Amino acid sequence: MDLSRQECIKLLKDEENQKDLFRKADDIRKQFVGDEVHLRGLIEFSNICRNNCLYCGIRRGNKIVTRYHMSEEELIETAKKAAGIGFKTIVMQSGEDLYYDCDRMCRIIEAIKKFDVAITLSIGERTYNEYKAWRNAGADRYLMRIETTDKDLYHKLDPLMSWQHRFDCLMMIKELGYELGSGIMVGLPEQSIESIADDLLFLKNIGVDMAGIGPFIPHPQTPLASEQGGSLNLALRTMAVMRILMNDINIPATTAMESLHPKGRIMALQAGANVVMPNVTEGEYRRFYELYPGKICVNDTPIHCRSCIGMKIEAIGRKIGTGFGGHKK
Ligand code: 5AD
Ligand code: FES
Repeated sequence: MDLSRQECIKLLKDEENQKDLFRKADDIRKQFVGDEVHLRGLIEFSNICRNNCLYCGIRRGNKIVTRYHMSEEELIETAKKAAGIGFKTIVMQSGEDLYYDCDRMCRIIEAIKKFDVAITLSIGERTYNEYKAWRNAGADRYLMRIETTDKDLYHKLDPLMSWQHRFDCLMMIKELGYELGSGIMVGLPEQSIESIADDLLFLKNIGVDMAGIGPFIPHPQTPLASEQGGSLNLALRTMAVMRILMNDINIPATTAMESLHPKGRIMALQAGANVVMPNVTEGEYRRFYELYPGKICVNDTPIHCRSCIGMKIEAIGRKIGTGFGGHKK
């Protein structure tokens, strides 16, 4: 459905009537993508990053965090186990860690494809040739948030990164035939409601297949430690407006939402979301992959998270998706 910028702004600001907004987004979700909730097994395989985004807990400048990357074998083994407990999509996420060069990623993708899963990559800005090689190796989807469409704010949040370059990467990914996931953080310092409305219209305009929206949560070991952060309610309203703008895309109930409220993901699933990405990373790595504080499930295991979220989803009368759960247009 089309909404004007003004209409988006009005809905985003209207905390009083947000219940109506959530109900409407929930109705649209049910009508267009049904009651299935698609689970993606998220592997956080490296927290080494060449970038220095002010908001991010694994920024290069954070000298306190314990750095790790999984070996090729370890990553493939983690994916195998996740496939073994029923995940039909594996999301491989990391900092921008060039140890995973083009060929190494190709080998990993080819190995994991044998487990009969869809593969999503979330490893940041790379070259066209790399994106192309990984697509040819079998990667199905790519996830990279634009974070904000306010270019001045984007460049303040990382003076060495380029908004235009990130946008160009998104366009390359789309052209190569990946399903494209993008998204934003809500509640960044100096981010206005008007700017969030622009973000939503941007995501619609580029035709994302998936849109991830989460609150910004200030990390104590970053320059933004003393900022306010985003509220769960504003993040939920943003997500609900996204559902109204793009009826049939995949929208995750994000982990950051649950980090602000013990029912955050369930609230999201009842306000437009149809995807959850449980963590399937093993052991201490979960704790070290700390983009923001208060991250959930850091002491849990893949099987625990799978059954935990499975029960919660069934308790609200929804079903776990049985297919790959791609974007059905
Ligand atoms: N709070 C919330 N989300 C964050 N991300 C990174 N740092 C934070 C933070 N402090 C999000 C970004 C990134 C995704 C992987 O995690 O949107 O794209
Ligand atoms: Fe990890 Fe509930 S999803 S403990």
